[in-house]
Amino acid sequence: LYVVHIAAEMAPVAKVGGLGDVVAGLGKALQRRGHLVEIILPKYDCMQYDRVRDLRALDTVVESYFDGKLYKNKIWVGTVEGLPVHFIEPQHPSKFFWRGQFYGEQDDFKRFSYFSRAALELLLQSGKKPDIIHCHDWQTAFVAPLYWDVYAPKGLDSARICFTCHNFEYQGTSSASELGSCGLDVHQLNRPDRMQDHSSGDRVNPVKGAIIFSNIVTTVSPTYAQEVRTPEGGKGLHSTLNSHSKKFIGILNGIDTDSWNPATDPFLKAQFNAKDLQGKEENKYALRKQLGLSSAESRRPLVGCITRLVPQKGVHLIRHAIYRTLELGGQFVLLGSSPVPHIQREFEGIEQQFKTHDHVRLLLKYDEALSHSIYAASDLFIIPSIFEPCGLTQMIAMRYGSIPIARKTGGLNDSVFDIDDDTIPTQFQNGFTFQTADEQGLNYALERAFNHYKKDEEKWTRLKEKVMSIDFSWASSATQYEELYTRSVARARASAN
Ligand code: ADP
Ligand code: GLC
Repeated sequence: LYVVHIAAEMAPVAKVGGLGDVVAGLGKALQRRGHLVEIILPKYDCMQYDRVRDLRALDTVVESYFDGKLYKNKIWVGTVEGLPVHFIEPQHPSKFFWRGQFYGEQDDFKRFSYFSRAALELLLQSGKKPDIIHCHDWQTAFVAPLYWDVYAPKGLDSARICFTCHNFEYQGTSSASELGSCGLDVHQLNRPDRMQDHSSGDRVNPVKGAIIFSNIVTTVSPTYAQEVRTPEGGKGLHSTLNSHSKKFIGILNGIDTDSWNPATDPFLKAQFNAKDLQGKEENKYALRKQLGLSSAESRRPLVGCITRLVPQKGVHLIRHAIYRTLELGGQFVLLGSSPVPHIQREFEGIEQQFKTHDHVRLLLKYDEALSHSIYAASDLFIIPSIFEPCGLTQMIAMRYGSIPIARKTGGLNDSVFDIDDDTIPTQFQNGFTFQTADEQGLNYALERAFNHYKKDEEKWTRLKEKVMSIDFSWASSATQYEELYTRSVARARASAN
């Protein structure tokens, strides 16, 4: 199959969170299975250009429509992690991707509806005929209605559209009048059975549009797929999802086991694997030294947490876990930052409080190298999310022999299985879970984890070996995507004949 992903993020060049990991990881896995895979991204000024190979501008420019005019786009090509990528650089006076950040701009709706249209225009003008156009999250959700309304009639008609929603919290709703800028027909689409948002007759919802206009709709874990079909979990889209349930499925993400491999990871002080865990100890020692934490007792458990600090991630529980870890005699390292000013300020306060503490360090920034060191050094890893579509950090942590403590929600419920739960077969038990999103719930899991850690060193080593050997690669999930794509293409061909 020929698969084109249109996305706002791709690791490691343009990554904010898990979406970036998924675009790169799924793309590579599909490529490994013999498919032709290409990615289309915006050309952000703040990308990590040193991670793009052979970047060059094409001679031909692509013209795309916006706000009643045609704008030129410079097209760059390069290779990221072995995947061919097209980067779109709009020659538009608003300098859409020249803002020093990926998201969070006042005009994000304009920026990404422009990009969605330019990406389709690039496919049309370059004569590409993909079997699958796979778009991700609200930023590229516009692709689905644009494809059927504008581009299939123009001849870009070979493709089936797959839309993956990585988080239903972000739907990109905007006032209906904005929809027309990218050439979509507001009068046709601002209807309750089309893109109109449930909140108001004057607001449109790109994610709703993508659910309706795509051939395949996925989200990133089976449990989350169930949750979003309920009024509490669906953030207003449960009934739309229920009316399109035949094409909707939850597929658990994998992780890119090449980038996340403790046996070869260039960011680590010492490499290690499930058969030789000595290097893990060295990483713990090195991280404690780097951060100025006490190394007096090697068996003092180190709890790691790497996250965007947003309400979804259970910020109040993360804060509580810092203090409870100290009371239990552990060490805590948090790496994360927040787009929400009051949360950022609150954690800056805690960071100051523990600036020179022997056992706690907060690092309020995005830092890829440090994230690798923390996964490798931690004994335990905490993810107390209120909701979590999939979550990658629990899987990465396990790959590095760090045992997860997670709330039973979304993809965490599909990947972390409690060690003390007799109803779970022993071979699947891999961490500590809790149900209620409060301090008691978290204490229940954290305290059990500390007890296990302290009680039996030998058993703990077996546990580390076990979680490091779990297959979290993209292999099985990529096969599921491949099956969905293949079936959808076959259905289209059958109905055309
Ligand atoms: P989400 O996409 O909701 O943020 P995921 O668990 O799916 O959550 O993915 C988070 C990804 O971002 C992981 O690869 C994690 O290592 C990375 N990450 C999160 N915060 C930071 C940070 N402050 N520095 C470096 N990497 C981070
Ligand atoms: C979103 C979700 C996260 C998921 C990631 C990749 O950011 O919050 O749970 O792992 O997308 O699919």
